[in-house]
Amino acid sequence: MIFRIIFTDISINPRKIITHLNIKPRLCLLKSTAFDIIIHVKKVFIKTYGCQMNVHETEKLYSAFERENITAADCAENADIVVFNTCCVREGAETRVLGNLGQIKKLKQSKPNLIVAVCGCMTQQSKAAEMLHKRCPFINIITGTYSLGALPQMVKAVEKGEKFILDLSVNEEVPQGTNLATRSDNVNRFVNIMYGCDNFCTYCIVPYVKGRERSRRLVDVKEEVRILIENGAKEITLLGQNVNSYRDENNDFYSLLSELAGLNGDFWIKFMTSHPKDLSDDVIKLVGSEKKLANYIHLPVQSGSDDILRKMNRKYGRAEYLRKIDLIKEYIPHVGLTSDIIVGFPTETEKDFSDTLDLVKQVEYNNLFMFIYSKRNGTPAAIMDGQVPEEVKKERITRLIGLQSEISNKLAEKCIGETFEVLCDGHGKNATGKTSDDRVIVFDDGGKDYYNQFIEVQITSVKNSKLYGKIRG
Ligand code: 5AD
Ligand code: SF4
Repeated sequence: MIFRIIFTDISINPRKIITHLNIKPRLCLLKSTAFDIIIHVKKVFIKTYGCQMNVHETEKLYSAFERENITAADCAENADIVVFNTCCVREGAETRVLGNLGQIKKLKQSKPNLIVAVCGCMTQQSKAAEMLHKRCPFINIITGTYSLGALPQMVKAVEKGEKFILDLSVNEEVPQGTNLATRSDNVNRFVNIMYGCDNFCTYCIVPYVKGRERSRRLVDVKEEVRILIENGAKEITLLGQNVNSYRDENNDFYSLLSELAGLNGDFWIKFMTSHPKDLSDDVIKLVGSEKKLANYIHLPVQSGSDDILRKMNRKYGRAEYLRKIDLIKEYIPHVGLTSDIIVGFPTETEKDFSDTLDLVKQVEYNNLFMFIYSKRNGTPAAIMDGQVPEEVKKERITRLIGLQSEISNKLAEKCIGETFEVLCDGHGKNATGKTSDDRVIVFDDGGKDYYNQFIEVQITSVKNSKLYGKIRG
C-alpha cells in the first residue's frame, strides 16, 4: 500500500517516526515546510478454498501477517504476497487452485517480486506438493496444514533471498491459550475447538491431511469465546471435524457446551460438524433447554442406504440416524436441520439412491449440501469396485437437488406470518440477518442501524425458498 503522511510541524523528525512505526519508506520528499513521505506497506492477499475451518485459518493467518505489519489487500493485483489456502476434499477444489495459479503466473510476469505461497490441505499430500512445484515453479513457498502460522517468517526468508521453501512437517501439538483473529466485522465469529479426524470415512481425505483428532483445552476455548463476546460478537460457531467427540482431560462436549452457555452476555452458540454416531442424547436435550445454544444442528447423513453407510464406514445405520432426528425434533423447538449427502458412492444402486431420496423426504431438512462422489487417491473408496459412471451421478444429484428445493420451499412457506428473533448482519433496504435455526431473512431496516443487534422480524413472503420479512415495531 502506498500512503502519505504530511508532517506540518518542521520540528518533527520523520525518520524517527518511521523507525518507531517499523515500516520502510520507499521515497521521502521534502516540500517547503512539510515533509511529504510516501511509505510502502506490504500487503497480502489470501485466497481461501473449502470449509469454514479454512475460512477461520485464513482469518488467523491475516492476523499473523498483521503482527508483522503486513496488511490485507483487496485482490491479488494489489498484493505483494499471494497465499492460496487450499482444500482437497473434492477434485473440483484442486482444479480451481490449479486454474487460479495459472492466473497468478501471468501476474508474476508483470510483478516479478510477487511472493506466492500455497498452503493447506491440498499441499499436505506430498505428491500434490511435488506436482505443484513441477507445474508451477514460480511458487516460492509450499506448506501444509501444520505450519500455517509460520508463513510470515517464511515470507521474510524469501525476501532475504531463499528461492523455495517446502514444509510438510507434521506437528500435532495442540496450541495452548487463545488465538484470536482480528476482524472489524464482529457479528459471527468462529472458534476452533479441535483439530484432525479419526473417523476414516472411506471416501474422505481429511484424516490423512489434518492428522489425528485432538481437542483444545476447555479453559482456552472458554476464554476465547468470552473475549469475543466481550468484544461484541453475538454468534459464535464452534468448529471441528467431529465436535461431538470433543474431549480435554476432564471434559466432554456436553460440559463444554454447558460452560459456554453459562457465560454472561447476549449471544448464541452454534457448532459444526456433528457426527451422527457421536451426537449424544444429552447434548440434544441440552441444546433444547439452553437459550444460548442455537436451535440448529448440521448432521451429515451422507446416504440413506444401510449398505452404502456400511461401505462408507460411517458406523451408524439409517434407523439409528432417524431415531436421532426424531429426538432432535422432540427436544429442540423449531429446530433448523441441515445435512451433507454424497451421491454416486461406489456400488450405489438406484435402490440405494431411492433410500436416500426417501430419507430426505422423511427428515425434511431446511437445507442440504449435496456432493457428487469424488475419487480421492489414498482413500479406500478410490479403489473400490463398482465406481458409478459420471452421467449417472449427475442425473441422481439433479433429482436430489429438485427434491430438496421443493422441501426447502415448502418449509419456508410454512414460516409466513411467523416472527423470528434475528441477528442482523447487514444494512439497507435488503438488510439480512440470521435466525437461531440458521435461516437467512431479508428485510428493510427503514434506514435504522440494527447491525449486530437481535431484532424481531415477521416473515411476509418467500421467493425461491428465501425468506423476506418486516421488522416488528
Ligand atoms: N467426494 C464427495 N464429497 C465428499 N465429502 C467428503 N469427501 C468427499 C468425497 N470424496 C463431503 C462429505 C462431507 C463434506 C464436508 O464433504 O459430505 O461431509
Ligand atoms: Fe471426513 Fe468422516 Fe472425518 Fe468428516 S468424519 S472429516 S467425512 S473422515
